[in-house]
Amino acid sequence: MLDIQTSLAQPHVTRRADYTPPDWQVPDIALNFDLDPAATRITATLHVQRSGVHDRPLRLDGAGQTLLSVSVDGTPVNDWVIEGGALILPLSGSAHVIETTVEIAPERNTQLMGLYASGGNLCTQCEAEGFRRITFFPDRPDVLSRYQVRMSADKQRYPVLLANGDPIASGDLDDGRHWAEWHDPFPKPCYLFALVAGDLAVNRGSFITMSGREVALGIWVRATDLERTHHALDALKTAMAWDERVYGREYDLDVFNIVAVDDFNFGAMENKGLNVFNSRYILADPDTATDYDYDAIAAVVAHEYFHNWSGNRVTCRDWFQLSLKEGFTVYRDQCFSADQGSAAVKRIEDVRGLRAAQFPEDAGPLAHPIRPDAYQEISNFYTATIYNKGAEIIRMLATILGATAFRTGTDLYFDRFDGTAATCEDFVASLEEASGTDLTQFRRWYGQAGTPRVTASLLHHEGSGRAELVLAQRTPPTPGQDSKTPVVLPLRVKLFGAQTAGTVAPEHVILLSDAEQRIVFEGVTERPILSINRGFSAPAIIETDRSAADLAFLGAHDDDPFARYEALQQLMLDTLVAAAGGNQADHAAVIAAVAGTIGDAKLDRAFAAEAVLLPSESFIGDQMAVVDPEAIFRVREALRRDIGRALTSEWCAAYDAAQAIGGYVYSPEAKGLRRMRAVALGYIAASGAADSGDLAFAQFEAADNMTDRLSALTTLVAGDAAQRTPALDIFYNRYSDNALVLDKWFSVQAMAPRDDTGDVVRELLRHQDFTLSNPNRARALIGAFGVNQRAFNVTDGSGYRFLADQLIALDTLNPQTAAKLIPPLGRWGRFDAARGALMRAELERIVKVPGLSKDMFEQASRSLE
Ligand code: ARG
Ligand code: ZN
Repeated sequence: MLDIQTSLAQPHVTRRADYTPPDWQVPDIALNFDLDPAATRITATLHVQRSGVHDRPLRLDGAGQTLLSVSVDGTPVNDWVIEGGALILPLSGSAHVIETTVEIAPERNTQLMGLYASGGNLCTQCEAEGFRRITFFPDRPDVLSRYQVRMSADKQRYPVLLANGDPIASGDLDDGRHWAEWHDPFPKPCYLFALVAGDLAVNRGSFITMSGREVALGIWVRATDLERTHHALDALKTAMAWDERVYGREYDLDVFNIVAVDDFNFGAMENKGLNVFNSRYILADPDTATDYDYDAIAAVVAHEYFHNWSGNRVTCRDWFQLSLKEGFTVYRDQCFSADQGSAAVKRIEDVRGLRAAQFPEDAGPLAHPIRPDAYQEISNFYTATIYNKGAEIIRMLATILGATAFRTGTDLYFDRFDGTAATCEDFVASLEEASGTDLTQFRRWYGQAGTPRVTASLLHHEGSGRAELVLAQRTPPTPGQDSKTPVVLPLRVKLFGAQTAGTVAPEHVILLSDAEQRIVFEGVTERPILSINRGFSAPAIIETDRSAADLAFLGAHDDDPFARYEALQQLMLDTLVAAAGGNQADHAAVIAAVAGTIGDAKLDRAFAAEAVLLPSESFIGDQMAVVDPEAIFRVREALRRDIGRALTSEWCAAYDAAQAIGGYVYSPEAKGLRRMRAVALGYIAASGAADSGDLAFAQFEAADNMTDRLSALTTLVAGDAAQRTPALDIFYNRYSDNALVLDKWFSVQAMAPRDDTGDVVRELLRHQDFTLSNPNRARALIGAFGVNQRAFNVTDGSGYRFLADQLIALDTLNPQTAAKLIPPLGRWGRFDAARGALMRAELERIVKVPGLSKDMFEQASRSLE
């Protein structure tokens, strides 16, 4: 008998070095969809052209469809074979017309890749390799085609039929069906194909482009959600104008549609002229969406819109180049959001996100460069590294070149590669050529994984008035990359005088490119204090020998808001890490710095609120040789309590001063006030004040917006006030018909810093509103629990077992979403041996599951290395 283990095929690895151009091009494709949730028939007519001189057959990727017929130049053929899902067809000439007819069942598609059903509608998701689940086609981004799409469907069930490009014609059929035809004049790779059929209402708008063309905008949602689309529509118009002003990029079609769907594997998708969104990044009104949601909606709407140039007009040659479009587009959306409100707070949020998701990735078993070398499943590489570290790399290029040369470079890039599938190298070479800056060494960022560590120490010789900054960099080894070479780090630096608080050396950018570098400052007559990596100019970990007093000084005086925030964070971190390591902790310096910050009336409230928040438990853990979740929780709560108690009257004053005057408004100022109220309420509760439950519940009941209501609920859920359960029930009943708000209800419980969180989460699994088949809901409970450092890491391993059980179950439905939730288990090397062994045991259990998806197999097996 055959041994199952040895008969298992080795997972197929795709390597960047193996890239070869396509054998066949497909300049034109016509698609005919006979839509039906149970059985959709698709006829595809491909005009194929042999590329170069070769005699290789045509190879069309496919997955899961039933092939009904194949014809070549109008004649049915049967000399084809199916190999690993792909259709291999021998062809004699240099150009042919291939027609295939296939059948698929959208309603049985639980992976949410390809054509699937969501909330009674039909929609598609093709990036990265979903198009092959619809029809046979060379599913790779360097095959660009003009699409002609015809759809027919039941008119009552699917009155709206949308696809990429412009609507051309439509009409009725017999049997209650109707049809519509759309053409997209811009050649595109198949991952940008989309169609939607459904019962949808539209919020229409219009935008006049810089050359005076009118674009018809539409946001399509279910009729009852129509009132919640105004913010997204406003954001879209603002983004269109911003891209014209800042990058000179004009929209190119006459129509731009966005559709919101409830079942979606990630945030949104930039399909040409027909973006499809997770409804959480479209729907908002004050009663159901927080300020954070409003900001995220604007950012994602802008992101997907910006892809029309950075992604669609210029696309990627292969998936190893993913950061070419994603890193650049995240950088673009970050700058857009910074321009809409407080740039300082936006930068703090971006860096916080980078440290929460990307730094751990770079330090763990799944570390990879922003341009990876190999993958088993490309879906696993839509990571914080590709997106967010990728954006930091682009930001460094903008810093090094300066705004003007950077823009000249992006103009050259868009101009030269318009209509093509480009590489990261094409982008860097464009910036290099346009600016005349040698970027040879800078390119190392594309190939080297890991977060660089920079040590900075400032020496002062009082007599000579000389100061010397000694910098050194080192990038720790990552899987497959044992030794690293120095990278180019643009470090914004400034020196302050300790006595006068004046400027001793004005801000400038130091390019740290050697392993070690010394920078000399002359005429420094008073003791200098170092402000470094201002604005987080380089994505590195900076270690300095600055004292608590110097950090407090910068926390009070630095004129770079990010550096000011950073100094306070470092002061808090030093205190917490020392305490978690068992050292006597003096909270006085942190308390004084917090008091100074909330008392500084010149500071924007949004900034002050962010700056007085303690670092997260996981970020504190990242600073420790061995993460001790219980100790971290204990010392952090103790510091929170002391800050709350020592500053009781300050917090009450800050809370009262942040009362909204008049009703709800969405503006940077109003957001800042709500943020300060939330933070003050949290500290008042942390102080143990007897009336904090009443205060939170009063806010919960009086709130005229979700930000205030949810922050009050979060505070109540964390504690043991009598109002805790009533508030959860009121919230549930009020929003039981709103899936996006119910997600918050699940998450707030899964993230609670409480002893019983594990039990609560296991209980919530059985709740009538819980389902693994909706990705938002699965992430709201299981994903949120996985990042609750203390609850997830309880010593008996029950948190690990819970996550593994759920991911094994989810994998049978939706491998992509399951695989995304693996990373908490991959942190085994960061914890004590007992926890580490329990985590590894779960990963080993996952790897052995019969029929495990390749998504999960790759993530779980790499996590064990
Ligand atoms: N390109 C989309 C974006 O704007 C995301 C697509 C994600 N695809 C995936 N297979 N994870 O970021
Ligand atoms: Zn993107």
